Amino acid sequence: MATTTTTAFSSSSSFAFFATALAFSLLLSLNTANGGALQQQQQQHFYTVQLSSLFPSDSCSPAPSTKGLNKLPVFHKHGPCAQAQQLTSTANQPKPTADEILRQDESRVQNIQSRKATAGSADVRVTDSTTIPAKDSSTVGSGNYVVTVGLGTPAKKLSLILDTGSDVTWTQCQPCVKFCHQQKEKIFFDPSSSKTYRNVSCEAAVCSALAEATGNRDCSSSTCVYVIKYGGAAITTGFFATEKLTLTKTDVFDEFYFGCGQNIQVNFGGAAGVLGLGRNSLSLVSQTSDKYKNLFSYCLPSTPSGTGFLTFGGAGAKSVKYTPIASVAGGENFYGIGITAISVGGKKLPVSASVFSAAGAIIDSGTAITRLPPAAYSALRSAFRKKMSKYPLGPALSILDTCYDLSKFKNFVVPKIGFFFAGGAEVDIEAVGILYANKPTQVCLAFAANGNATDVAILGSVQQQTLEVVYDGAGGRVGFASGGCK
Ligand SMILES: *[C@@H]1O[C@H](CO)[C@@H](O)[C@H](O)[C@H]1NC(C)=O
Ligand SMILES: *[C@@H]1O[C@H](CO)[C@@H](O)[C@H](O)[C@H]1NC(C)=O
Repeated sequence: MATTTTTAFSSSSSFAFFATALAFSLLLSLNTANGGALQQQQQQHFYTVQLSSLFPSDSCSPAPSTKGLNKLPVFHKHGPCAQAQQLTSTANQPKPTADEILRQDESRVQNIQSRKATAGSADVRVTDSTTIPAKDSSTVGSGNYVVTVGLGTPAKKLSLILDTGSDVTWTQCQPCVKFCHQQKEKIFFDPSSSKTYRNVSCEAAVCSALAEATGNRDCSSSTCVYVIKYGGAAITTGFFATEKLTLTKTDVFDEFYFGCGQNIQVNFGGAAGVLGLGRNSLSLVSQTSDKYKNLFSYCLPSTPSGTGFLTFGGAGAKSVKYTPIASVAGGENFYGIGITAISVGGKKLPVSASVFSAAGAIIDSGTAITRLPPAAYSALRSAFRKKMSKYPLGPALSILDTCYDLSKFKNFVVPKIGFFFAGGAEVDIEAVGILYANKPTQVCLAFAANGNATDVAILGSVQQQTLEVVYDGAGGRVGFASGGCK
């Protein structure tokens, strides 16, 4: 273009004018074409988000019927669906503030990091249960999503927290020898009113396997006792037992190993216990592997007023992008994944793959906010802030240091954030997974840095929202499909 104009100028002035005009109009039309492409590119790399969509409604929006699909509905622990279904007793407890939720989340992360650090020497035995403090339970963020399963004969319905980061399934039990919490199902599971309950003997091989799954075990008379420590004084302990587990009408398992809790020094916000979906031999996934081949998937809803699902066996979505399950030193019970890069607004962050590989990564349903190696987080934050520079910053929120005051915007535009995984899978986080909205004046980038470059990175539940996440243990892979639920 420049050449044409220069040549034109050097000949006659009228021709120069004509040529310049031509060049200009060419430039104009080119510009328009470019503008279109640019706009398209922008749409490809940005989300336009309605501010109100980030906040839950007061009423539950139930999922399309899951009857006959072997899907268990998944609800947010503190949302209107759980309350409408009376899954948790949070109705009579004040809802935790964002600060409290994030503090609980941080204590879970600390626990994961320390479990990793002490793995191999995790022989912290709790032999004298009378030394366990009986009041003031620590609150441990252990996942915000609950599902309902049936336990015993006849089956008693229990709302349990969905947890890929732990193995042993447990619930609060009668007579609750030491201490239990208020829960939605006001009466705890009662072994004496079930025909199929059996204590596990201390001599049984499976009682030794407990130590491997939880780092602890104990005996009371000749009964095997499970002990799960969550860091600090937070602990749950009780009898290790077998029971009939009913997932759906057709999917019933006899002699399912679980913990019958008698001393629960952890507050689970009104849920009846935990559904352990980890990789250890005592997890629900391993115990049902004959039928489901270690395959399950879930979708976490976008707001606390939505409904997701948990499904076992081969009902996975079609366009799933898989990455191999990676081994994480000291974290064998977790689902390890390999993160290789992160993009913001279509551009990869200038972070070398070794930053990710030095730390390793896991995916966890019980951690809310994704934790990244410090160098990766700081690159993410700076790229995100650059792309969000037209919005005023707001006050930080606990561990979240990049928040915006969006109260003056009905709609706003955020750059997409993409994760690149080992094997080449590239997964865009949905818009609801980029932001943690406390209130319109405080909408935060929903990522945080680990304290140490060697701490394991954690892909948390906020980022997993609305994706169908497929755990294929037998295939040795974890996968993601968009649009799993709303
Ligand atoms: C299970 O073991 C505990 C502790 O030994 C005992 O108190 C309880 O009665 C046993 N329950 C059943 C159903 O055997
Ligand atoms: C980070 O972790 C490594 C290995 O666990 C440790 O040696 C180092 O002191 C830690 N650094 C900080 C700043 O805590």
